[in-house]
Amino acid sequence: MSGRMRIAINTGGGDAPGLNGVIEAVVMSTWNRHWDVYGVKQGYHGLLNTDEIVHLTPEKVRHISCQGGTILGTTNKGNPFKMAVENAAGDTEIRDVSNKVVKNFQRLGFDCLIAVGGDGSLEIAYDFFKKGIPVIGVPKTIDNDMAGTVVTFGFDTAVSIATEALDRLHSTAKSHERVMVVEVMGRHAGWIALNSGISGGAKVILIPEIPFDMDTVCKKIMEEELHGERYAIVVVAEGATPAGGGIISQGGGEAGRQDVLLGGVGAMVARAIVEKTGKDTRSLVLGHLQRGGSPTTFDRLLALRFGAAAVRLVEQGQFGHMVGLDPPDIKAVPLKDVIGSQRLVPLASDTIQTARDIGISFGEPPA
Ligand code: F6P
Repeated sequence: MSGRMRIAINTGGGDAPGLNGVIEAVVMSTWNRHWDVYGVKQGYHGLLNTDEIVHLTPEKVRHISCQGGTILGTTNKGNPFKMAVENAAGDTEIRDVSNKVVKNFQRLGFDCLIAVGGDGSLEIAYDFFKKGIPVIGVPKTIDNDMAGTVVTFGFDTAVSIATEALDRLHSTAKSHERVMVVEVMGRHAGWIALNSGISGGAKVILIPEIPFDMDTVCKKIMEEELHGERYAIVVVAEGATPAGGGIISQGGGEAGRQDVLLGGVGAMVARAIVEKTGKDTRSLVLGHLQRGGSPTTFDRLLALRFGAAAVRLVEQGQFGHMVGLDPPDIKAVPLKDVIGSQRLVPLASDTIQTARDIGISFGEPPA
């Protein structure tokens, strides 16, 4: 690639600590190449209504890598291929408005879109690539479930917040001799629950990769009691399911949203513990606290590295690829290889074995 490039950048899906670091690195790297970069607001909405597209310059992004959220805004309801719109009768219907995005992209003279997002947003980016938009992807998610990269930024921050919360719960749980059930995010992957649960001293960790049995969970709590441990911390991933049961979600979903909103399994587990053990039990949902605030140093650095690497891919003309961490390198990964695949916790991993070795139960049904 040569000449003065015009780059557009957007952030899509749920926010993750580190998004601003990607934006900062993209702006600084393009500035040093004498290119122009434009921020597109609220995912793809900013390419449907182009009024708010903003020219990004170094002074607008100076050290924003230390801030959570995204200065461009984001949404998980804005898929232009399946947009929820209100028709003349006032009803919501789903329409494909992707041609308008392509037209606006071309009218504004952009040479490339750097799309920062999770699996859903990068699937949309890939669909636009197939429609002729030169796209480079940057993977993000606190859930750490993206294929093609060993880790995503946002995950380390989410795990640190969850671990700190577990640390704090020990003293109150111990004082009251209670069971504290903590529901954490992660969608259909158990990375946040596993890493925070081990680090935060949980006795039981329930993850989507291992369907759980309440009798086993309760047996573990009562065994601990026999050994003098009269309180317990139980970490439950929001996507964990009882053996033979389904995921617990929050109702019928939101208009224009592709995925179901998970939640409620922690409260369900807590109720079952009370019924089966009679132990005083409380449940709490950490929720969006896991996504808020300043990214950890690890996430800032990874975000800055991803942003700079994305600009190098633009320079090399590697469109249709995303950046991915393959230590010690950042590699170009074809989007077509990662779309639709989730990276779950491998059950044969050393981390799972570590949990078992130190006496943590995954609540597996008896063999
Ligand atoms: O994908 C990130 C994530 O935080 C999931 O862990 C969670 O299920 C979902 O987003 C929550 O979405 P929302 O921000 O729309 O409530």
